[in-house]
Amino acid sequence: MTVKKQNPQNLDRIEIASRDEIAHVQTERLRWSLARAYEHNPTYKRKFDETGVHPDDFRTLDDLKKFPFTTKEDLRVNYPFGMFASPMRDVVRIHASSGTTGRPTVVGYTQHDIDVWSQVMARSIRAAGGTPDDIVHVSYGYGLFTGGLGAHYGAERLGAAVIPMSGGQSEKQVQLIRDFRPTIIMVTPSYMLALADEMDRQGLSKEECSLEVGIFGAEPWTEDMRAEIEDRTGLEAVDIYGLSEIMGPGVANECIETKDGLHIWEDHFYPEIIDPETEQPVEDGEFGELVFTTLTKEALPMIRYRTRDLTRLLPGTARSMRRMEKVTGRSDDMMIIRGVNVFPTQIEELILKDPRLSPHYQLEIFREGPLDKLIVNVEARNVGEGAEEVLMASDLSHHIKSMIGVSAEVRIKPEGGIERSMGKAKRVIDHRQ
Ligand code: DLL
Repeated sequence: MTVKKQNPQNLDRIEIASRDEIAHVQTERLRWSLARAYEHNPTYKRKFDETGVHPDDFRTLDDLKKFPFTTKEDLRVNYPFGMFASPMRDVVRIHASSGTTGRPTVVGYTQHDIDVWSQVMARSIRAAGGTPDDIVHVSYGYGLFTGGLGAHYGAERLGAAVIPMSGGQSEKQVQLIRDFRPTIIMVTPSYMLALADEMDRQGLSKEECSLEVGIFGAEPWTEDMRAEIEDRTGLEAVDIYGLSEIMGPGVANECIETKDGLHIWEDHFYPEIIDPETEQPVEDGEFGELVFTTLTKEALPMIRYRTRDLTRLLPGTARSMRRMEKVTGRSDDMMIIRGVNVFPTQIEELILKDPRLSPHYQLEIFREGPLDKLIVNVEARNVGEGAEEVLMASDLSHHIKSMIGVSAEVRIKPEGGIERSMGKAKRVIDHRQ
C-alpha cells in the first residue's frame, strides 16, 4: 500500500518549527505552568516551598531541574481532586485509571484542556496518516479510561468519521469492520491480535479488509509484535503513547513515513529523562525514566511527573519535535527473578522469533522455598503432537536462559489457552505477593 505521508501544509506550524522557536514556546509556557501550579494548588505550593524554589527561579529550560518531582503517590494522597488547580465549576470532565493496587488515579480537565487534548490527538492521528476522508474505528475502551474518548475527540477534530465501538464484543467489531469499511483502527496491540483471530474465524481476509492503519498503544509492544501484526493484517502499525496524568493518549505519536519512535508534542508536554537512582537528568540519547511537565494544562498541571516508563529521547526526524524510543517497559513491570531484571517485552521478543509460537502469552511468578520460579505460558500456532510441544518448550526455555539469563519453565497452551484482553493485556501474574 502507499504510505500516507502528510503534506506539510496540513501540519500545525509548530510541528516543523525550528528548535529555537520550540524552546522559546516551552520557556514561556513553563513559566506560566509553574506559576499556576504554585498559586492554585496548596500541594505544589508546599512542595516548592519545602524545596526552596519559587516559580520566579525559572528563567531558562535548564532551571526546571530545580523543581521537585510529582509522583503517583502525590495523586494518591490527594485523592480524588486535591491536585486540581481549577475550581470544580471550571472542570468539565473527569477520568480515572484503575491502578493495580488501591485507589484509582483521578484526573480532571477544563474545556480548554479538552480542546488541547483533541488538538494533540488530531495531530497524532494525522501523524499516522489520517485525514478527514478516513473512517476511524475506535476499540479503545470508552468510560473512565482515557483511550476511547481521547481517540474519539481527536478523530472528530481531524474531521474523520468516528465509529465509537469501545472494547469487547469481538464478533460485532469484525462485522462492523466488514460493513462500515473503516480505514483506521485505534486499539491496544494485544486486542488487535484478538480481532485478527476473529477476522480469521469470520473469513475476513487481509486483502478484503478495508483497514489500512492501526494506531496502537496503551501498553508496551515490541518491534517483533509490529511485524507480526502488519504481516497478519496488512495494516501499517503505528505507535501512540500517553498517560492519564499528563493528558491521556496523544502525548506522543509515531509518524507513518518513518516509524522510528514517537514524536513528543513538545509544545504541550515537556520531556526529561532522569536516572531513576540519582534522580538527575541525563543527556538526550541516554536511557532512563521519562518525566513530563505539562505546559498548557489548567485543571491538573503536572510538574516533573515521574511516569516510571523507561525510554530515551532522540532528535526529531519527520517532525522537529524530539522522539522517544518505543517504551519497552515500566519500572513497575520489571520482574526480578533470582536477582535478574526481566521485562515481559524481552520474553515477547523471543516468543515472536519462533514461528511455531503465537504472540499470546502470560507470565507467572511463584516462590518455591527461597527461590523465584518463572513460568511462561504461551500458545502454539498449531497444536501438534506432544513431542513437538516438548521441543518448542525446551527451545524457548533455552533461549530465555541464554539471552536473558533466567531459568523459566515454558508451558505450551492450545489456541485460546491464554485469556484474551479487551484492553491492556495483563502480562504478569505475580503469585509472590
Ligand atoms: O494508557 C493512555 C493511552 C490510551 C495511551 C490509548 C495510548 C492509547 P493510562 O491508562 O494512564 O493511559 O496508562 C499509561 O500506559 O505510563 C505506559 O506505561 C503505558 N503506555 C501507554 N502507551 C504506551 C505505548 C493510557 N505506546 C501507561 N507503549 C503509560 C508502551 C504505553 N506503553
